[in-house]
Amino acid sequence: MIKTSNISHFYGKEQVLYDLSLEIKEGEFVFLSGDSGSGKSTLLSILSTLLKPSRGEFLIDNFHMDEISNLDKFRQKNIGFVFQFHYLINYLSVYENIALAAIDEKKKNISRLLEQLGILELAKRYPNEISGGQRQRVALARALINEPKIIFADEPTGSLDSKNSAIVYELLAKCVKNGTTVVVASHDMKVEEYATKKLRMVDGKLQ
Ligand SMILES: Nc1ncnc2c1ncn2[C@@H]1O[C@H](COP(=O)(O)OP(=O)(O)O)[C@@H](O)[C@H]1O
Ligand SMILES: [Mg+2]
Repeated sequence: MIKTSNISHFYGKEQVLYDLSLEIKEGEFVFLSGDSGSGKSTLLSILSTLLKPSRGEFLIDNFHMDEISNLDKFRQKNIGFVFQFHYLINYLSVYENIALAAIDEKKKNISRLLEQLGILELAKRYPNEISGGQRQRVALARALINEPKIIFADEPTGSLDSKNSAIVYELLAKCVKNGTTVVVASHDMKVEEYATKKLRMVDGKLQ
């Protein structure tokens, strides 16, 4: 599903990733661990097509990024993103936030998805009327609504307590059971319990 060969990345003159080669197969729950500054977010951005590596080869779904003619559409259809800060729109209800991201033929599934995530009763509320854990579940719903093949989550529980973190990981594990590929970058070692594949970054290198 994803394959990289010797990718390196520089911000200006500063090299932050060094010759990384890895493979992610369909249905895996990948845990990318490492200390702050080790390069997790940079690598995740590359794997999720948001950032082009300075050097090396990157394939997603057997395509080079340059070969994907409509990258927006490719992302919308195939990739779900979850970040540490939920980036929900405060002026839209929970339901509307998800509807905004949903492609037309998936809009009919919003209520069912909210129910599966245990937040259907929050559909009409606004982000500032719900808890941090609930907001992150809404962000997860937004990532899932188009039924992506792969979900990338960067520190998805960075602002949550351990109880809410566990809920988010369990929901991600459920996605994996249903065939979705999940890649979580986090310094929270709790993710280990759920992962089927572990990658560790140290100073821009994979251990
Ligand atoms: N946009 C950027 N511009 C310049 N340097 C950056 C940028 N993003 C990250 N870095 C640097 O790259 C290194 C790796 O950062 P990052 O990928 O965010 O690691 P992590 O997610 O593991 O904390 C750090 O030294 C960080 O300061
Ligand atoms: Mg990071």
